[in-house]
Amino acid sequence: MDTRAFQRTTALLLLGLITAGHPLQAAGRLLLLGDCAVTVHTYEMRRDFTEMRQIMVNEDKHISTRLISKQTMKELQPLESCCFLKQLLSFYVERVFSSYVPNQSQFRRNTSNLANSFLSIRNDLLKCQEEMRCECGADSEARLATIHANYEKLEPRDGAVKAIGELDSLLEWMETYGDGRK
Ligand SMILES: *[C@@H]1O[C@H](CO)[C@@H](O)[C@H](O)[C@H]1NC(C)=O
Ligand SMILES: *[C@@H]1O[C@H](CO)[C@@H](O)[C@H](O)[C@H]1NC(C)=O
Repeated sequence: MDTRAFQRTTALLLLGLITAGHPLQAAGRLLLLGDCAVTVHTYEMRRDFTEMRQIMVNEDKHISTRLISKQTMKELQPLESCCFLKQLLSFYVERVFSSYVPNQSQFRRNTSNLANSFLSIRNDLLKCQEEMRCECGADSEARLATIHANYEKLEPRDGAVKAIGELDSLLEWMETYGDGRK
């Protein structure tokens, strides 16, 4: 092997190691939802959310109500998952984040970062929908209707606090959906 080839190989190996160490930070995760593929920056969303979760959970006054849990996304079929996620992110962008204005400017940055991340994924999903690769069926419509109905029962700010506190389940789903699928 000549010197230049050796250097190039070493550089590629190093690059591989660096990328392997930070796969989520660098590239995001490719989320496969039926016929639609979108990149989700789960690392950034987690970073914006982690501390906020506890604050929201502490502020939540309606402990017995649940809007979104792991159960909400359980056994969601790949063909329904695209449309489901699109509608759920729209719900967060249009209703939840707009009803909750944190009184501390530091949190405002976090919620606006999260809202922007959601908006960007939602827009990618809209492109799939325009190409007819993202159709809602009865199952996802029913799941979404339940979320909306429970949200309507709460005051807007109370509902928003709860919905943000429960984002953990949605983030976890985006981090793991499709793992182990062949
Ligand atoms: C806000 O986001 C930053 C990172 O962007 C994070 O370090 C911080 O913990 C977050 N604050 C809250 C309250 O979640
Ligand atoms: C923000 O609002 C919450 C609840 O309304 C309150 O408990 C908290 O003290 C407020 N924080 C600041 C910095 O005003």
